[in-house]
Amino acid sequence: METFQADVVIIGSGLAALYAAYKLAPQKQVIVLTKEAWTSSNSYLAQGGIAATFAETDDWQIHLEDAIKAGRFHNNQETTAYLVKHSKRTIKDLIEAGVQFDRNKQGEISLAREGGHSASRVLHAGGDATGRRIVETLKARVTDTITIHEHTFAMNLIIEDQRCVGCFALNKENEPVIYTAAHTILATGGAGHVYEPSSNDEAVTGDGLSMAYRAGAELADMEFIQFHPTLLVKDGKSYGLVSEAVRGEGAKLVNQDGERLLEGVHPLEDLAPRDIVARTLYQAKQKGLADTVYLDISMIKDFDKHFPTITSICEKAGVDISEGRIPVAPGHHFSMGGIVTDQNGQSSLNGLWACGEVACTGVHGANRIASHSLLEAVTFADRVSHEILESPLNTFDYLEKSIPEKSTLELPSRKDIEKRMMSNVGIIRDEQTLLEMKNWCEEWIDFTHVPRQLYIGKDEMIRFNMLLTAWLITTSALERTESRGGHFRSDYPNEDPAWQLKQIIRENRQLEH
Ligand code: SIN
Repeated sequence: METFQADVVIIGSGLAALYAAYKLAPQKQVIVLTKEAWTSSNSYLAQGGIAATFAETDDWQIHLEDAIKAGRFHNNQETTAYLVKHSKRTIKDLIEAGVQFDRNKQGEISLAREGGHSASRVLHAGGDATGRRIVETLKARVTDTITIHEHTFAMNLIIEDQRCVGCFALNKENEPVIYTAAHTILATGGAGHVYEPSSNDEAVTGDGLSMAYRAGAELADMEFIQFHPTLLVKDGKSYGLVSEAVRGEGAKLVNQDGERLLEGVHPLEDLAPRDIVARTLYQAKQKGLADTVYLDISMIKDFDKHFPTITSICEKAGVDISEGRIPVAPGHHFSMGGIVTDQNGQSSLNGLWACGEVACTGVHGANRIASHSLLEAVTFADRVSHEILESPLNTFDYLEKSIPEKSTLELPSRKDIEKRMMSNVGIIRDEQTLLEMKNWCEEWIDFTHVPRQLYIGKDEMIRFNMLLTAWLITTSALERTESRGGHFRSDYPNEDPAWQLKQIIRENRQLEH
């Protein structure tokens, strides 16, 4: 079987992956492998920006308070403080790497205000194309120093003597290949398309979460899912995100008759925290207060110039922005939980690192504040690469292991998983809907014996990963008998102080080799 060897193998090609690659090369030999084209990532789609305590008048401690309040006091204080305290340095590093942030007429970096932030601290690049601009800049920086294997689907992590030493993957031709490395970094994104609708790239299906769990790494906070209130959804089809920045410019959420839906619901009205806005829209539909929810954008001048990415999403959906309204609905946006890591991105398995949305660093608590996903990706990719560069372990003797025989599994369709997750483990859950989902998942897979290694076809593997991720979210949500941030249970509608800092840690205790 074809085997590739490197110092570091990075799985994923979003911001966390490319930033780690940029920092590690050329000192280390790096291979990035990614499931689809390198541009298939949530970072590439990110419209919102990157938050930082950047203005002279701003204070990182206030930024920290904002993040913890949004996270409903479930955040890890230490990692969150690290994130915001270093945010100015992080932006300077990106500028050094060549990223050009938008500037005002005076030539100063423009700082916008977004949901949950008490100061203007969100930087953008290319208007609403921040993520794409940053990853394109980094990609250009690493093109000559690293190897990227596109359309290469990592299936299983390889564990030897309690250490992760690479992964087993399917190449472009669907043939099995092995990657071995002293260090493996998972940067595969979160649970995205375990739900429908989702703002995420189609390639994000919980693969890294499933792989790490099966290999024996600890996962936590899986029940906390952020639903974004405004995905462009028309005739039941989702076309992508309509950034919160649009509401930051004054847009209002209304029903088909133009009646406002957030007035009187929260002091911040349309810019209330995402969980509150998403829940209000969901309930408005359930109570018959809205057949269709629209974002009234009629007051925004030169919308297409401010929001070129959203304008092109509207064009794709056949929505004429000159009519002044965009049809929207809430959908999955971000997974707060993931692979447990320390401040340096080290997972509970030696040799395995995680950064970006797949990781659970604790910086988002129960609900991520706006524009902290790109910030987290860069900050902890930086920590991971720093630790790897300092690590004495660079080589190892890899004893080729046999991979399991190719098998087949009967699994539900992607659509079936996505729809059931949205209706049973979505914006509002309760014991009954959660049990229904859990039982359904368990009809397909015996989750008490999840194999570490599995060799099935790519499409089956994706559905297996989705189902396992769905089961982890569902069973964690069942265990947390309170509501907090991105986890709202109608049978336990209040926050319970006893749960505030408690994390539900998930571990595959029934490892089979
Ligand atoms: C948005 O632009 O509304 C999303 C940005 C984010 O998730 O932080």
